[in-house]
Amino acid sequence: MSIFRTKNLDDMVAASRHPGGLKKVLGPMDLILMGIGAIVGTGIFVLTGTGALTAGPALTISFVVAALACGFAALCYAEFASSVPVAGSIYTYSYATMGELVAWMIGWDLMLEYGLATSAVSVGWSGYFQSLIAGFGLHLPPELTAAPGSVPGVHTLFNLPAFLIMMVLTAMLSWGIRESARMNNVMVAIKVGVVLLFIVVGARHVQPVNWQPFMPFGYTGVLSAAAVVFFAFIGFDAVTSAAEEVKRPERDLPIGIIGSLGACTVLYVIVSAIMTGIVPYQKFLGVDHPVSLALKYAGENWVAGFVDLGAILGMTTVILVMAYGQTRIIFAMSRDGLLPRKLSSIHPTHSTPYFATWVVGIIFGLIAAVVPLNVLSELINIGTLAAFSLVSIAVIVLRKKRPDLKRGFRCPAVPVIPLLAVAFCFVLMAYLSLTTWIAFGIWLAIGLVVYFGYARHRSLLNKS
Ligand code: ALA
Repeated sequence: MSIFRTKNLDDMVAASRHPGGLKKVLGPMDLILMGIGAIVGTGIFVLTGTGALTAGPALTISFVVAALACGFAALCYAEFASSVPVAGSIYTYSYATMGELVAWMIGWDLMLEYGLATSAVSVGWSGYFQSLIAGFGLHLPPELTAAPGSVPGVHTLFNLPAFLIMMVLTAMLSWGIRESARMNNVMVAIKVGVVLLFIVVGARHVQPVNWQPFMPFGYTGVLSAAAVVFFAFIGFDAVTSAAEEVKRPERDLPIGIIGSLGACTVLYVIVSAIMTGIVPYQKFLGVDHPVSLALKYAGENWVAGFVDLGAILGMTTVILVMAYGQTRIIFAMSRDGLLPRKLSSIHPTHSTPYFATWVVGIIFGLIAAVVPLNVLSELINIGTLAAFSLVSIAVIVLRKKRPDLKRGFRCPAVPVIPLLAVAFCFVLMAYLSLTTWIAFGIWLAIGLVVYFGYARHRSLLNKS
C-alpha cells in the first residue's frame, strides 16, 4: 500500500477523449470570459482597501508582483490542462504524477482554497449589499452585520447576509442550476462593464498629488500588499475544470487561462491607480467597499450605486463558480474512495451531488458568518500559493517521467519558469502572518491524520 501509487495517466487521457455525454462546445472566448467570471470579485472590490493601506499608491506594483506569481504558475497549469484535459484540476493531475499522498494533500489544500473562498467572497458580498440597501435607508441591526471582532468598536455577532447568500446559492447549485456559458457571459459583461464605468468616471477625479509619496511603506509594504491582493487573481485555475467540454483543449485551455489572467491584470492595475488617485490611501481604514467609496468621495453617488450593484452580481458568480469547483473536487476525491462515498452520491432527479453541495454550503456559510474577511483571505492565499508551487513542481516531474506524453501546450523554459513560479509563491507566502502559517500547518496536519487514518485504507487503488 504505497503512498506513492498513481492512477494510470494514459487511461485518464484516453477517457478524456471520449467524455461520457459531455458536449464539446466551449471555445477560447468562452473560456476567457469564464476565467474573468471566476477571478473578478472580492479581491478588487474589497481587498484593495487593505492593500492601499499597506502599500499606499504603490498598490499598482503589488498587483503586478502578484500577477507575475500567477502568470508563471498559469503557464504550468496550461501545460497540464492541455495534456490531461480532465475534470478535478490539479488534484487529478497530481494523482497521476506524484502519487496518492501528494494528490490527497493537494485535494485537502484545494478544499481550503475553494471552500474558504466561497466564505470570503460571501463576506465581501455582504459589505456591498449593506452599502446598497443603506442607499435606500435600510440598515440591519449592527449585531447581524459582520463577524465578531471585525469592525473595531462595534459589537457584531453574525454576518447574516453572508450566511444567507451562501444558502441561496447552495440551494441553486443543488437544484441543478447549470450556469450555462451564455448566462455566465451576461454576468461577466455586467461586472466588467461596472469596472470600466469606474475607470471612465473615476479617471476624471484623479488628483496626482494623492500619488505622493508613491511608496510610503517601502518594498515591505508593496510585498505585504501583494500577498493580500493575490486573492484577486484566484480563480483562473477554475477554467481547467471545464476541460472536458472544450472543443480544442490543447489550444483553447492555455488561451483561456493566460488570456483571463492578462485581462484582469490590466484592469486591476488601472483600477488601483485610479482609486488611490481619487482618495488619499489613509482614508481606506476599515472600509469594506473601497471602489464605491472612491466614487462617493468624488461626489459620483449615482455611479457608486451602479458599482455596488455590479459588484454584488459579480461576486455572486465568483461564489457560484468556487462552490461548484469545491463540490467537484470533493466529488472526485470521494469517487476515488478517499472521502466517504455519500459525498459522491447523485440526486436521482436533480442529477447534482446534492449531499456534498449542502455539506459544503452549510459549513462554509457558517464560517462566512463568524470569521472576519482578513483572516479568511490570508488562509486562502497561503493554501493557493502552496498549490501553485506544487503544480509547478509537478510540471518538472512529469517532463522527466513522461517525456513522450503529447502536450498541446508546453510551458516555455522548463525548469526556469516553474522554478520562478515556486520562488514568487514562496516570497508572497513569506509576507503572510505567522498566525496564517500556524493555521495552515494545523490544516495540513489534520489532512495527514485523515489520510493515514482513513483515506489510505479506503482508496479504490487498494482494489486494483
Ligand atoms: N479572485 C476572486 C475574488 O477576488 C476569488 O473574489
